[in-house]
Amino acid sequence: MTRVLVLEGPNLDLLGTREPEIYGRETLDEIHAGIADRAAELGLAVDFFQSNHEGALIDRLHRRDFDVAVVNAAGLTHTSVSLRDALLGIGRPFIEVHLSDPSTREPFRQVNFLADIAVRSIVGQGARGYHLALDEVAARFGGRGG
Ligand code: DQA
Repeated sequence: MTRVLVLEGPNLDLLGTREPEIYGRETLDEIHAGIADRAAELGLAVDFFQSNHEGALIDRLHRRDFDVAVVNAAGLTHTSVSLRDALLGIGRPFIEVHLSDPSTREPFRQVNFLADIAVRSIVGQGARGYHLALDEVAARFGGRGG
């Protein structure tokens, strides 16, 4: 069974109350419940890790106990050479997800340290983006029976 790590960066723990006009009203736990259901349907094993700390995210990646990652690095997307290096260093493919579309927002969000090394970037679809990412994982890397 393909093992998927859903990795989420700073401030995503505030979803539900954080700028709901941009990120919606679903909490991270609610989003995770939806992802877990979709993963079960697709026959994917899924694990979740959210942290507000860059080093904790990097340490989690270094465990390499997954086959593919779904990564919403949040603000670190636009700043972190170290997270990029970790994703390259562990040798695991990843799909980038953003609830909003950073490319249509402030100029500093146009800088993206991860997009060019991601298998695919899914942006601006809200929480549905995670489901699309899982569909892509199942199609590319195999779900049930894959
Ligand atoms: C985000 C977009 C980032 O620019 C922002 O810093 C976030 C959330 C998104 O999911 O839309 O924290 O990654």
